[in-house]
Amino acid sequence: MTRGRGRTSPEDAYTAAPFVPEGADLGALREAASGCRGCPLHREASRTVFGAGDADARVVLVGEQPGDQEDRRGKPFVGPAGKVLDRALDEVGIDPDETYITNAVKHFKFTQVPERGKRRIHKAPSLREISACGPWLAAELELIEPEVIVALGATAGKALLGPGFRVTKERGTRLEADGSGPAPGGLVVATIHPSAVLRADDREAVYQGLVADLGVAADVLNG
Ligand code: URA
Repeated sequence: MTRGRGRTSPEDAYTAAPFVPEGADLGALREAASGCRGCPLHREASRTVFGAGDADARVVLVGEQPGDQEDRRGKPFVGPAGKVLDRALDEVGIDPDETYITNAVKHFKFTQVPERGKRRIHKAPSLREISACGPWLAAELELIEPEVIVALGATAGKALLGPGFRVTKERGTRLEADGSGPAPGGLVVATIHPSAVLRADDREAVYQGLVADLGVAADVLNG
């Protein structure tokens, strides 16, 4: 049984919808996602990296896509960006163990530049790939029903709020997903992707911005 719009047509040939089982719990979704062929990204990636964490979480964190380490280990945010995120969550009083964390896109997209050996270089997913993967994110959010969703960076923001989303303009405020995009409705707080801290010249200032935005999500939880 499938949910969503069922069969793929040539116009929207990229979609996970036919692979998402109806009425599934998170375990069954994870299992089904491991066989997703809804867009070409599965061909090069090692595996699907599905969401992980507390199925009763009050907060769901949404990143962009798995990185190199996540692709190897099969879990989201296990690399350096995840460490930055955990520290920032801790600082605003959100226990990382009480969150659910996932990505807008569930396969690692990368390029390999011959001069750089076997190193896999992250490549941003396209809007088409973000939208193709939307049914998995929607299914996760429908099951968990968090009080607040945190969009980590522009890709997550676009997946949740539509292609017009701009993280620089909309970060750190309470936003409402109206359900018109691939993901269902709900309260969203957007911030930068934690890897931006690692790339910044002034890491401390960028990190403090991340903490301030996450503080807005913490305020939602604290009523
Ligand atoms: N960046 C992401 O957006 N997601 C991960 O899982 C890891 C790094």
